[in-house]
Parts: sequence; structure tokens; C-alpha cells
Amino acid sequence: MYYQLNLREVTYVLTEALDYVGINDIHHGKRAAYIAYEIGKNMGWRQAKLDKLMLMAMLHDCGVSLTDVHNSIVCNLDWEDAQIHCDRGAKLLQSVPIYSEFSDIIALHHTHWDQFLPQIDEEIKLYANLIYLSDRIDALRSQFGAHLSQEKEYIRSIIRKYTPELFAPKLCDAFIELSHTDFFWHYLESDPLHYYFKEWVEKGKIETVPFSLLKSIASMFANIVDAKDQSNKHQSLMVASLARNIAELCHLSIGEQDEIELAALFQNLGKLRIPDAILEKSTSLSDDEQIKIKRQGFDTQIILRQIKGFDYIAKIISFYYKEMMSPPQEKSYQAKENTLIPLEASILMIANTFQTQLHGSTKETITSVEIDTILDTLITKSHQLERDTKEDIASYLKCYLEKGIEPIFYM
Ligand SMILES: [Fe+2]
Ligand SMILES: [Fe+2]
Repeated sequence: MYYQLNLREVTYVLTEALDYVGINDIHHGKRAAYIAYEIGKNMGWRQAKLDKLMLMAMLHDCGVSLTDVHNSIVCNLDWEDAQIHCDRGAKLLQSVPIYSEFSDIIALHHTHWDQFLPQIDEEIKLYANLIYLSDRIDALRSQFGAHLSQEKEYIRSIIRKYTPELFAPKLCDAFIELSHTDFFWHYLESDPLHYYFKEWVEKGKIETVPFSLLKSIASMFANIVDAKDQSNKHQSLMVASLARNIAELCHLSIGEQDEIELAALFQNLGKLRIPDAILEKSTSLSDDEQIKIKRQGFDTQIILRQIKGFDYIAKIISFYYKEMMSPPQEKSYQAKENTLIPLEASILMIANTFQTQLHGSTKETITSVEIDTILDTLITKSHQLERDTKEDIASYLKCYLEKGIEPIFYM
């Protein structure tokens, strides 16, 4: 299946999920990208270089899934474990054809200017150091503010102090010059930043994008989300593989199977907004913590709905979460609206329920009877799942369980 998409929009919107990792300091990636782009422009870089810089800088912290890691990076000018997220980010980007050329640069985005090995290409050094400089300017801004003139002067003094040890002198000079304009700082506020990116995204072309490319992008984001929960590694990837096979058993077209697989890979994007402490908590959750867990479905579909061409994927996810997470009174409201759960959402429910049951279980602890119970419950919710199909799905899941059929991993 082919999609008509603006790839600038796809990257911009999906990195919104990465920005959630900051919890109380969201949009770090976007601000770093804006700062880098403006410094590059001030240095007279050509448009193609600036566009590449913008995409890389938006993705620069894709190796960060945990809120604690984000906080350490933002609160310290330099941090001894910083290289871990650079290496992880570089590996993730390598798996996506349109991002793989960013990998070498992202691997070096916390490397000090005076520590680059002599054999590293000059252009790679400058790109990486510009992202590093922009990232640190934003980290200083979040820590000390940049509203008053003495706060802006303080940020300039720190950057000057660590040049040329951390930063390239010509990048530092371009920043200092730029930072004397009020406009530069005003754009770091949430609304102006949104308009700034809207203009850039709208200049992107609509392209014909094959499913394989979207799957690699979706798998990269699924990996980022799954890294948040070490106890259930590859959850989204396993669900995606199960869901696709179940969709085939339901005789859905290849295009519909593609949509379900993508929905499964993207389904947990909103989880990045949940603080690690809540996800790791072994005692009961407070009301506020439960609200944070419950809104992940809402956040996921809000992200995906912003991508023109992803409407149906967002709709599948929205139906799925409404059914899985809604309290009974909300369900009766939905029933009044005569909302049927689409088959695609039911498939996602079966795959997720099965994976959840499977997680932490052995084939002794999940029995054929339990599989039948899961399917019976789900069938009553879905008006479109035929009984024959139900039997095919049950035998597939039992076979999966008994023979240990491995789901297909993409990375
Ligand atoms: Fe970073
Ligand atoms: Fe960063």
C-alpha cells in the first residue's frame, strides 16, 4: 500500500511524542531544532542543509525514553552518561531509510568540540556541534530562564566560557550575534514556536510513501516507547505482528492489514508522557496517577490525527482505547451514539489482550480455555467477527502458544 504524505509533517508530529518525555519541560526537541536552524541561517547555510539540520535536531534525543534520563541531560551542562542516549539514538535512526544518514551525527551530538577525532568529516563535526550547542542553550534556558536581559546574558556567558572546549568558535559567534535580538528569544515560547514550525512543515511536498518506509518509522517509535517498560520489552512489536496475522485470518485486504499493523506499532506513543515512577510503581496508584495512565490513548490519537493521511490509523486507536479504558457509564453513552467497534479495533484488542495475558505467563499458565474465554469476550463486543473466523484465530493463538511461533521483529 502507498500513502500520500508530507514527510516533514510525519517527523514533526511524531517527534511531539519524543518531546513528551520531558513531562514538565516539553518541546525540548523543537526548541533545539529552532535554535540550530536559526544559527545555521545566520551562518549562511543553504536551504537543503538547514532542512536536514531541522529534521536531525527534532530527532536528536530519540535515544531518550526515560524521564530521569531527560532530567539529567537538561539539568547538567555536561553529563558522563550522555553518550549512552547518543549511541542508542544513532542505532535507532540507522533502521529508517530516510533517517539513516543522521545516525553518525546524532552519535556525536554530545561530543566536545576539542575531542573530535581528526579523521571525522568537517561537515559532520559542525552539524553535531551545532545540535549540541542548541541543545545546551535550551537546557540553560529551562534551568535559569531567558526572560530578563541578565538571564540572556548569563546564558551567553556560559556558552562563551565553554568555547572552544565544548563548542566551535564560529557557531558560538553566530549564536551570540543572533541572541541580541528579542525575536530570537520570543520564538522559544510555545505559541510562536508552533507557528514557526507550521510554516516550515507547510513548505514540505506531498510524496508517495510505501508501507515499508512507514513501517520502519513506526517500528523505530515503537522501540522508543517499549524501552520505557523494561519488563515488557518489544510489547508494541509483538502486538503488531500478532494483529497483522489475525487481520489476515479475518480476510482483510493487504491495505487493511497494513493499517492495523501501523496502528499497533503507534498505539503506545502517549505512554511517553507518563512519568517512569508511575509505570514502575508496585503499590496502588493515586487518582491523579490513574488519570495519567488512562490518558495515554487520548494523547496517542491526538498526535496521530495531526498527520494528514493517518486519519484511519488514529480512528482505530481511538476506538480501541475508548473500549479498553472507558468506565461503564461512558460505554453506555457510546452505545447510545450507536458506535460499533470496527473490526480493526477488535483485532487490536485481541492482539493486546493476548499479549498482556502471555506476558509473564508460560504455556502452562495460559490455557486453551483461557484463549477461548478471551475471544468470547471480545466477540460479544465486536459485531463483525464471524464465529468461523473466531475458530481460526483461536487455533492460530493456540499454535502460537504451543509451538512458540515467534512474532516478526523488524529491528
Ligand atoms: Fe542529547
Ligand atoms: Fe537534547
